[in-house]
Amino acid sequence: MALQVWMVGEDGEDLKNHRELLPLSKLQEIGVLYWHLDPKRPESKEELAKIRKDRGYNYMDHLDICPGKLANFEEKLKNFFTEHMHADEEIRYNLEGGGYFDVRDKDDKWVRIWIKEGDIIVLPAGIYHRFALDAANHVKLMKLFLGEPVWTAHNRPQEDHPVWKEYLKSLTDDNAGLALAAH
Ligand code: LAC
Ligand code: NI
Repeated sequence: MALQVWMVGEDGEDLKNHRELLPLSKLQEIGVLYWHLDPKRPESKEELAKIRKDRGYNYMDHLDICPGKLANFEEKLKNFFTEHMHADEEIRYNLEGGGYFDVRDKDDKWVRIWIKEGDIIVLPAGIYHRFALDAANHVKLMKLFLGEPVWTAHNRPQEDHPVWKEYLKSLTDDNAGLALAAH
């Protein structure tokens, strides 16, 4: 099933037009990339290897977000759901369970992306976002990275951060949109 994407409120709450699904062009507009693989099919290994090669994602590890498996579970969830950005892409492959990545759209409103098993998502460097578990309360993620991993979260506001400024500029630059569409 294709990714499901809809708007939510500041606290992640449903809006009046309850889960009215948005076209995936909404993600392209803000530089978010995505693929879907079936983690259980052997062919997916090759497809993942190709994505990693094309994008330069040489680093990989795993993160189980699950009460009992992750130390300081509550505190970590609170940090994941605090609006932040990174100086690099955030790349996640969902191997099991489900979660929500909320990202800011061009109007600074929250767009919720429901990540289910097999979904791969790339949040561009500089985009404001947050993460929450879905009702399953568990997710197993593969974390990918280009080069030495840096997971530093810069909480909003970061209006003077060069990566944020660059990201903002890419939103108003049509060529950047075309470059993203080419992937
Ligand atoms: C994060 C977790 C959810 O880095 O992967 O936000
Ligand atoms: Ni993040």
